[in-house]
Amino acid sequence: MIRAALIEDSRSIAEAHVASWKHTYVGQLPDEYLAGLSVPEGEVAWRESFANEGHRIFLAEDVGLVGGFVSFGPSRDEDSAPKATGEIYAIYLRAEYQGRGLGAELWQRAVDELTADGFSETTVWVLDTNALARNFYEGRGCTLDGKSKQARIGGKEIVELRYRLKLK
Ligand SMILES: CC(C)(COP(=O)(O)OP(=O)(O)OC[C@H]1O[C@@H](n2cnc3c(N)ncnc32)[C@H](O)[C@@H]1OP(=O)(O)O)[C@@H](O)C(=O)NCCC(=O)NCCS
Repeated sequence: MIRAALIEDSRSIAEAHVASWKHTYVGQLPDEYLAGLSVPEGEVAWRESFANEGHRIFLAEDVGLVGGFVSFGPSRDEDSAPKATGEIYAIYLRAEYQGRGLGAELWQRAVDELTADGFSETTVWVLDTNALARNFYEGRGCTLDGKSKQARIGGKEIVELRYRLKLK
């Protein structure tokens, strides 16, 4: 079942997020960093995110367990047209819920909501090494827009790429 998340779901979102990160980023981010990911800290951050204007989260829920989620809202990038560009901030499924069509459903829900909110396009940032997610975004019609950024995560230099999708 896909439903809008409530602030009370912050703990479950953090649990699914940490579990998915630990699985997804093995070999892409340092082991020590992944081992140190904290559900309580994540819960605080997700709880606070409910105060951000326009930020929304939808959950894929399976008899009380959050299998994954998508979060989205206005673009946070300085080069984006205000009110025109949305952003998918995060889309994460627990490993055991991947490959069953849930990601596609969550993605579509986010796209529908952003379209209904009047955004004419959306972006999504992805780690350049995350081939599974890049395939997924390309399968949804997203294309690289040429923008990239470097960051340091757990002491490792990483590169993120930006995909863009026109909304109808
Ligand atoms: C990326 C993710 C959200 C996709 O969701 P999903 O439920 O696994 O994907 P779906 O079952 O909805 O499949 C959607 C498409 O991806 C393809 N796909 C799914 N899993 C795949 C895999 N392991 N390898 C290759 N293709 C795959 C499917 O074939 C399908 O293609 P189609 O639409 O052309 O038929 C999910 O796999 C995930 O959470 N991955 C780990 C976290 C992550 O990397 N998030 C993105 C961070 S930027």
